[in-house]
Amino acid sequence: MAAGSLPRRVRRRLSFALVAFSVFILNAAAQETSPPDEQGLAPIELLGKRVFEDKTLSRPQGVACASCHQAQQAYQGNNGSSIAAFARGAAPNTLGKRNTPTLMYASFSPPFSFVEEKDVRTGHREMIPVGGQFFDGRAATLTEQVEGPLFDPDEMNAASKKDVVDAIRSGPYAELLRQVFGENIFNNYNEAFVKISQAVASFESSSRFHPFSSKFDDYLQGKAELTSQELKGFALFKDPKKGNCLSCHVGKETSHNPQDWLFTDYTYDALGGPKHQQARSGSRPDLGLCAQPDLAKKIPAQMRLDSFCGAFKVPTLRNVAQTSPYLHNGVFANLSDVVAFYATRDTQPARWFPRNSKGSVEKFNDLPRSLRRNVNVSEVPYDRKLNQSPRLSEAEISAITAFLATLTDREKH
Ligand code: HEC
Ligand code: HEC
Repeated sequence: MAAGSLPRRVRRRLSFALVAFSVFILNAAAQETSPPDEQGLAPIELLGKRVFEDKTLSRPQGVACASCHQAQQAYQGNNGSSIAAFARGAAPNTLGKRNTPTLMYASFSPPFSFVEEKDVRTGHREMIPVGGQFFDGRAATLTEQVEGPLFDPDEMNAASKKDVVDAIRSGPYAELLRQVFGENIFNNYNEAFVKISQAVASFESSSRFHPFSSKFDDYLQGKAELTSQELKGFALFKDPKKGNCLSCHVGKETSHNPQDWLFTDYTYDALGGPKHQQARSGSRPDLGLCAQPDLAKKIPAQMRLDSFCGAFKVPTLRNVAQTSPYLHNGVFANLSDVVAFYATRDTQPARWFPRNSKGSVEKFNDLPRSLRRNVNVSEVPYDRKLNQSPRLSEAEISAITAFLATLTDREKH
C-alpha cells in the first residue's frame, strides 16, 4: 500500500516514527563519526553548538557566540579585543560594556527572582534577589538570554529574528534544524527563533559545560590530594573570620558531591571594585542590578530600587584561574590581585583607588557618590577600617590563590 493512501493519523504517526528514527540514527552517527568535539552531544545539543559557532548570524558576518566564549578558555574570551576586559563586537569599532563571564556552570543559575532568606545568626528574614543570566540577571533563563548578544549593537548586531532565522534556513545546518524540530520549523519566525534559542540553551546545559573534573572534585571524592598550600588556602577560604569566601562563593561543607560546590549561590553583592582605567570616558556608570529593566516591578514592597545599585551576580569560581580578567568590569588582570583587593580594600584603599583633586582617596570610584553607601562594608573579609590589619596576610592571599587554581576543569580521564 502506498503511503499516500494511508489514513492521515497513521501517516502522521509514521512520519513521527521516521523523525524519531532519524534522530536516533543521527545520534548514533554523531557518536561514531563526528569530530571529537561533537561526540556525546544529543541532536538538539549538536544543533545548539552549530548555532553557537555560526559566524554568519552577526552583521557584518564574522562573530559568533564562540568568538567571545571560547571552549579552550572555559567559554570566556573577548574576540581578539585590544582591551581584554571589553570584547570586540561585529560592527567596526565596537566594544562591549562588560567583561565576558565564563559559561561553565551557568545552567545551574535558577531563573531570576526574590527569595526569602533567614540570617543564620540573627534569625532575621529578608527577601533577596537570586539567579538569572548576565551580571544583572536581566535574562531570566539561558533560552531568554540568547537574543541579548544577537541583537546588541556592540556584540553581534543582528538585524531581526527574521534575519537570524533566514541566515540559518539558507545555511549548512538547516536540515539538522528540521530533523530536530520538524519540517514546519521555518514556517513561523518567532517560533523558530524560540526553538533555536532552546537548542543553544541545551548545548550550554550539556555536560561539557559542567564536567566537575577539577583536582578539587577529585579531592572531594577522595581521588586526589591537595598540597599543604592548597589545603591551607581552602581552610582560609571557608573560615568565617578569615576569607569567609564561602558565604557567597558557596559550597556545602558536609557534602562530598561536586554538584554541591558551585562556588556561587547566584545572589548579588556590591563589592566596590575600582573603575577600569580604560573604561570609555563619559560612559555612564554601570549600576548593575538596579538597572535591570523592570526591576522596580519585581522588588518586594518597602525595598528601594536604588539599594540594589552597584550589586552584581556572584560568579562561580570554578575555572577562575583561566578566566582573567576579573570582575564585571574586568579591572583586575591577576587572580591574586582580586584576593588581595578583598583583604586590603578598606585597610589600604590608596593601593586600589586614585586620589581626587583634594588629595583624598576616591574609594569605590566606579559608582556615583550617592550610591557608594551600597557597597558591602559589614561582611568578612571586607569589614575592616583604614590602617587596621587586614583579614588576610600576603602568605594567606597566596594560599587562597593556590586553592582557586585547583578549581580548573581538566580533560576527563
Ligand atoms: C562580543 C562578545 C560576545 C558575544 C559575541 C557573545 N557574548 Fe555572551 N557575554 C558577553 C558579555 C560581555 C557578557 C556579560 C554581559 C552582561 O552581564 O551584561 C556575556 C554574557 C553571557 C551569558 C550570561 C552568563 C552568566 O553567567 O550570567 C550567557 C549565557 C552568554 N553570554 C551566552 C552567549 C550566547 C549564547 C551568545 C551567542 C548568541 C553570546 N553569548 C555571544 C560577551 C559576548
Ligand atoms: C559578600 C559576598 C562575597 C564574598 C564574602 C566574597 N565574594 Fe568574591 N565575588 C562576589 C561578587 C558579587 C563578585 C562579582 C563582583 C563584580 O563583578 O563586580 C565576586 C567576584 C570574585 C572574583 C572574580 C571572579 C571573576 O570571574 O571575575 C573572585 C576571584 C572572587 N570573587 C574571589 C573571592 C574570594 C577569594 C573571597 C574570599 C576572600 C571572596 N570572593 C569573597 C561576592 C563575594
